[in-house]
Amino acid sequence: MESILHSHYPWLSAPILIVAPMMKITMAPLAVAGSKAGGFGFLAGGFDLTSLADDLAEAARLLQDADISAPEGVLPIGVGFQNWGSDVRLAMAALEKHPPAAVWFFAPKRLADLLPWAREVRAVTGGRTKVWVQVGSVGQALEVAKTTRPDVLVLQGTDAGGHGLAHSASVISLVPEVVDALAGERIRIPVIAAGGICEGRAAAAALTLGASGVALGTRFLACQEATIAKGYQNEVVRVHDGGITTVRSNLYDVLRGIMGWPKVYDGRGVANRSYLDAQAGMSEEENKKRYEEEMQKGDEGWGAEGRMTTYAGTGVGLVRDVKPAEEIIKEISNDAMLALTKTVARYSEKHVAFGKFSR
Ligand SMILES: Cc1cc2nc3c(=O)[nH]c(=O)nc-3n(C[C@H](O)[C@H](O)[C@H](O)COP(=O)(O)O)c2cc1C
Repeated sequence: MESILHSHYPWLSAPILIVAPMMKITMAPLAVAGSKAGGFGFLAGGFDLTSLADDLAEAARLLQDADISAPEGVLPIGVGFQNWGSDVRLAMAALEKHPPAAVWFFAPKRLADLLPWAREVRAVTGGRTKVWVQVGSVGQALEVAKTTRPDVLVLQGTDAGGHGLAHSASVISLVPEVVDALAGERIRIPVIAAGGICEGRAAAAALTLGASGVALGTRFLACQEATIAKGYQNEVVRVHDGGITTVRSNLYDVLRGIMGWPKVYDGRGVANRSYLDAQAGMSEEENKKRYEEEMQKGDEGWGAEGRMTTYAGTGVGLVRDVKPAEEIIKEISNDAMLALTKTVARYSEKHVAFGKFSR
């Protein structure tokens, strides 16, 4: 499956590492830096596409002198959509002008809505732009595979930062079960694992589970090219023990006045003062008022007692410093290969006859 990806996106190094679209954060500088470093950067369109054409034009400018072996006629980056709120006409106008190598669909109101989206993208770009869909369950994966027939499925586990299915499994069970289910139906679609992967060992584990690559969001929050407030970034580096310090909730959408997410989704972020107050019974109205006051404080609005939203995954404790995207990608790729090699070596040393096992 990796060979399919390497043939469609020839600039990718191995193992395949994706910079996930993060609304308002993975903008042109980060998406381009990701692809320049041998990964695959996905510019986040989010749900409000009014600036998408300009963002793609900026990416095209940044890529002008880049030494990247992209297929003819496409930008070597992707574009992510939150389909539940995206205007298809704005999307197509932007994609027609600057076709990216792939689009990434996520969270439509109904999964069936993705089929016309995929058709339009393929028609408007003459099939040059491939279609990726991020899903969060075996059921979603099979339905999308059979209807939309995407080029790639991104399997998002519950550890992921930002929005995802409120009820879902971690990649450790999601990825192998989807791989088996697809094989059972004789469907050949590469899968990418997302959720909780912030460093090389987790990337190696995901590859072992059957993923052809990994997509990371939280790790790139602490990256120099991210479009992110300093207070948010500081908080990502400070917080640890993400299984305890982050929570899934839709409170942060309520506070920020973001309506329209399909009911099955919520978002994972650091449990802050707003969350604790809500748990203690504070009304939404009062909580929103305090949130709006806090917004005036700038970078101080984050932190253990802050109220600003810090979307991040459970892997946040493994994010310890802010680095350029290129360094992060090189480090994770290297560490993943090292982890795989070390694991094999550890068992070989114990004289396990590998040849004995087959399936
Ligand atoms: C701050 C933030 C914003 C996100 N925004 C989007 C988005 O706009 N579209 C999308 O498809 N996924 C979005 N995601 C989810 C990512 O695509 C990905 O599934 C997730 O970051 C992977 O988990 P990780 O954060 O543990 O690496 C976002 C994640 C974060 C942390």
